[in-house]
Amino acid sequence: MVTLEEISKNYYLGSTVVNAVSDISITVNDGEFMALVGPSGSGKSTLLNIIGCIEKPTSGRITLDGTDVTDVPTDRLADIRARRIGYIFQTFNLLPVLTVSENVEYPLHLQGVDKAERRRRVEKVLHEVGLERFSTHKPAELSGGQRQRVAIARALVGSPSMILADEPTANLDHKTGMDILTKMKELNQRLGITFIFSTHDQKIMSIADRIVELRDGRLSNN
Ligand SMILES: Nc1ncnc2c1ncn2[C@@H]1O[C@H](COP(=O)(O)OP(=O)(O)O)[C@@H](O)[C@H]1O
Ligand SMILES: [Mg+2]
Repeated sequence: MVTLEEISKNYYLGSTVVNAVSDISITVNDGEFMALVGPSGSGKSTLLNIIGCIEKPTSGRITLDGTDVTDVPTDRLADIRARRIGYIFQTFNLLPVLTVSENVEYPLHLQGVDKAERRRRVEKVLHEVGLERFSTHKPAELSGGQRQRVAIARALVGSPSMILADEPTANLDHKTGMDILTKMKELNQRLGITFIFSTHDQKIMSIADRIVELRDGRLSNN
């Protein structure tokens, strides 16, 4: 469970203050499949980065599974993130020189998981996303939808309780985007992983259990 209490994030550009998100209070329960929607610049990425412990809020409190992480130092936050949270990006963010397997294995290296266990887990998650036959390919040899599946496998490999996806379908055609969302939904239902994803595609919102809308950095419903 994630609880945000009166979260705000400001960016300072010279003498200008940008209120990227303002006064957000929301609870996301375990197992939710939630869409964060709103136009470009409304604060979706900022909010996901705060939930994902990638950025710290300027004010407000954030609690993950009952632990207040607001004042946790950045290095310990990275550790919490690695063990609990998977992240999927709009542009896939795969390392081009690594194979599919190596990309998926990468976060386990950072966590110091031993080789046999890494192999076992990589094989399992590649099977989850239907890419076992592509394990030795490089990202450039894959379609956009396949690349996003690699990113899903990489997000899954640490057995997170929550996966955050920032416009995961924005660089895909509509059908491929729906396939990716359907895969995420299946993982949500079968494994009980919480998903929070951002989108501004109306059709894609329909698959969400819950839709939270942002306007100019503020919640506009809920
Ligand atoms: N690193 C940053 N520095 C300055 N302003 C930023 C930064 N990141 C985001 N912003 C600003 O914060 C607002 C919200 O941005 P963002 O969270 O990226 O929105 P969205 O993901 O909905 O497009 C925008 O006005 C954006 O320009
Ligand atoms: Mg964004």
